[in-house]
Amino acid sequence: MTQDEMKKEAGWAALKYVEKGSIVGVGTGSTVNHFIDALATMKDDIKGAVSSSEASTEKLKGLGIEVFDCNEVAMLDIYVDGADEINASRDMIKGGGAALTREKIVAAISEKFVCIVDNTKAVDVLGEFPLPVEVIPMARSYVARQLVKLGGDPAYREGVITDNGNVILDVHGMKITDPKDLEDKINAIAGVVTVGLFAHRGADIVITGTPEGAKIEE
Ligand code: 5RP
Repeated sequence: MTQDEMKKEAGWAALKYVEKGSIVGVGTGSTVNHFIDALATMKDDIKGAVSSSEASTEKLKGLGIEVFDCNEVAMLDIYVDGADEINASRDMIKGGGAALTREKIVAAISEKFVCIVDNTKAVDVLGEFPLPVEVIPMARSYVARQLVKLGGDPAYREGVITDNGNVILDVHGMKITDPKDLEDKINAIAGVVTVGLFAHRGADIVITGTPEGAKIEE
């Protein structure tokens, strides 16, 4: 089975957590794209979605699913999104698709975070995948110097502007043994909009696509 087929297994398995009549929080990425395809099969049974990126919004609308502004919604039952890495405590690195800030906001207004991944994303220690940090453009060099002090090796993601008009630094070489502490430290740097560590708000349910089908951990 290919990696994309495993992503599809995970994406379609998440459909069982969608309640009729609800508004669903929708993340970003290739695994989520499979979830959106699945969600379209029950578009007449849900009110719609709150989206974490322009890309997901376009796909949702293209399939006839109404997209609500985040400010119109107080709370969502579930948020379904992928991850670049996830550890046994369900802390995640996210932001490979540069949507980390809106992802964190939609996750924050959701009761349950349903993380959908293929079986290559599980790790013992986070950090092999470069940690994305969204940064206000004028603070790029200052933030990079502060990230070096924290033991990282930041690289500017050339040619990428986020949906919020900011830039991304990808921090290499981090062995993240205390994800909550590092999330706090990076968020405290002036000019950082969001770090792609989801430790304070980790996943509640993990659905892993494997060659044997979707494995669900609640
Ligand atoms: C986007 C994300 C994605 O969830 C993450 O990059 C995983 O993507 P994919 O499902 O394509 O592997 O955080 O910002």
